[in-house]
Amino acid sequence: MTELLQEIHKRLTFAIISHPDAGKTTITEKLLLFGGAIHIAGAVKSGKNRRAAVSDFMAMEKERGISISSSVMGFEYGGRAINLLDTPGHADFSEDTYRGLSAVDSALIVIDSVKGVEDRTRKLCVVCRMRHTPIATFMNKLDREGKNPMELMDEVERELALEVRPVTWPIGQGKGFKGVYNILERRLILFTPGEVHRPGDFVAINDLADPLLDEKVGSSLANRLREDVGILSEVYPPFEKDDYLAGLVTPVFFGSALNNFGVGELLESLVSMAPYPTPKEADERTVTPEEERFSGFIFKIHANMNPRHRDRVAFMRICSGKFERNKTYYHVRSGKPFRTANPTAFMSQDREIIDEAWPGDIIGLHDTGTFKIGDTVTEGEALSFKGIPSFAPQIFRVIVNGDPSKEKQYHKGLNQLAEEGVVQIFSKPHNPNMRVLGVVGQLQLEVLQYRMDNEYGATCNYRPVDFEIAHWIDSDDKKALEQFVDDNERRILMDIRGNYIFMSDSQWTFERSKASNLAIRFYTTSEMVESRA
Ligand code: G4P
Repeated sequence: MTELLQEIHKRLTFAIISHPDAGKTTITEKLLLFGGAIHIAGAVKSGKNRRAAVSDFMAMEKERGISISSSVMGFEYGGRAINLLDTPGHADFSEDTYRGLSAVDSALIVIDSVKGVEDRTRKLCVVCRMRHTPIATFMNKLDREGKNPMELMDEVERELALEVRPVTWPIGQGKGFKGVYNILERRLILFTPGEVHRPGDFVAINDLADPLLDEKVGSSLANRLREDVGILSEVYPPFEKDDYLAGLVTPVFFGSALNNFGVGELLESLVSMAPYPTPKEADERTVTPEEERFSGFIFKIHANMNPRHRDRVAFMRICSGKFERNKTYYHVRSGKPFRTANPTAFMSQDREIIDEAWPGDIIGLHDTGTFKIGDTVTEGEALSFKGIPSFAPQIFRVIVNGDPSKEKQYHKGLNQLAEEGVVQIFSKPHNPNMRVLGVVGQLQLEVLQYRMDNEYGATCNYRPVDFEIAHWIDSDDKKALEQFVDDNERRILMDIRGNYIFMSDSQWTFERSKASNLAIRFYTTSEMVESRA
C-alpha cells in the first residue's frame, strides 16, 4: 500500500451535531479524554468552565454560554487519526454549521433522551441526508428518567427519516440505569455511578439466557432486556455497515456522556466502522482522496482567534493527495501561487505546525486576506468544490458607520468579518456605497457589533429595510435577466461575487413575481447560481 493509501485508511473526520444542551460539549470532552488530547482528572468541571477549557474562543460565547464558532480537534484512537469538528448548535449560526458539514465524512447526532428529537437536530439531519453523510446516533442522559427507548427509536425514524439499527440497548433508565448491552458484540457494559468507564470494561456473555446477566443486573431487568432484544430483532433487520456508509441507516447507541458511560463503546464502534475520507464533488468532476495530486477547500475563516495575536486562520479540508509545508500550490480563484511555511493542525486547543497533511485532515492556514470561504487550492487544476453555499439570509439591515473618524477600521472590520462568513454583505447595483447586511439570525447582528468594537475599534449602526425574503436569481436568457433587474431595481441586491438577489416583502409577492417571470430561476442558496456560472 502506498503511503497515501495508508494515511487515508487512518483518517476519520466527523462532526457532532445536536440541539443545544443535548450534551455535545460533554461528549466531545469525553472523546478527547479517551484520545489523550486533554487530561481532566475525575468529574468534569462546571458547564461554563468546561466550555472555556475546550472549544470556545470568544469572550462573548463564554458570557452567553453558547458555542458560536466551529472548532476542530484532532486526536488519535484505535489506530485512527480523528478530526472532530465541533459545530455551533445555536440556531442563529446554522450557516457555519452547514459549511462545517461539507468538510466531514460522517456525523454523530446526540439526542437528549429526555427531550427526544429536537428542532436543530431535525434541520441538520436534512443537510446530512442531502449529502448522504453517514450518521451515527447517541441517545444521551440515560441516567435521567427519559422517554422509553423504543419510543425514541420510533421518533428518530419518523422525525429524521432515517432507518435505525440499535447497536447498544439500555438496561433500566434514570435511577435504575444499570448499563447497556451491546447487541452486535454480545457484551454487557455495567454502569456504576461516579466511576470512570473505559473502552474494554465489559462483561462478555454467551447469550441472553446466560444466568450471569441475572446476577449482574437483577432478574427483572434481565428479563426485560431479553424481551426488548427479542422485539428489536423482529422489528429491525440486522445492522449492515454498508447501509450506514451509504447514509441509509443510523446505528444507535445509548449512554450518559456526563457519566462517561457508553461513550467508549461508541468510540470503539466509530473507529471500526466510520468512513475513510470520501470523494468530494467539484463542479468539474468528482475528486477522490486517492488521487496523487493535492486538492483542498476553505470552509471556514476565523479572524482573531487569539486576541493577543491578531491573526486570521483559514480552515482547509484536504480532499486529495498530500499537502506539504513550503510547497507552492495554486489558488484557483485568484490564479495565483500559494505557499505556506506554517500550516497548523488542531490538537485540542493547541495549534502545532505540521510538515504534511493527508486527505480528511483539516488544517489551519495563516491568512492575510488571500482566502474566501469556498476557495479551492490545488496543484494546478482549476477545480471548484461544491457544497459550501451561502444561505439566503432572513434578516436584512442597512449598515452605516457609527463613527466617521474610524472610517478605515470600519471598512476593514466589515470586509474581514464578511469574508469570515459572520454576515453576508450586499450592495445596490446602482448605489455601491449603500451596504445591506443579511444574516440568518438576530444574534449575528449582535456578534458583528461586538466584534467590530472589540477587534477593530469600530462602531456600526443598523437601519431597517422592509424586505424579508431573498432569492438568488439567474436565467439562460441574459437579456431577460437584465430586463428583470431593471424592472425591479428597488428590489435587487448584488452579493460579493456579483450575483443578483431578488428581494420580496412577503411570500405572496415572491410567488407573484415568480409566476410572471418564467424565464428567471430563483434559488434559496447561492450554490445553484454559482455552479451554473
Ligand atoms: P451542548 O454542548 O449540546 O449544548 O450540551 P452540554 O454538553 O453543554 O450539556 C448540556 C447540559 O446537559 C449540561 O448541564 C451537562 O452537564 C448536561 N449533561 C450532559 N450529558 C449528560 C448526561 O449524560 N446526563 C445528565 N444528567 N446530564 C448531562 P448544565 O447544567 O448546563 O451544565 P453543568 O454545570 O451541569 O455542567
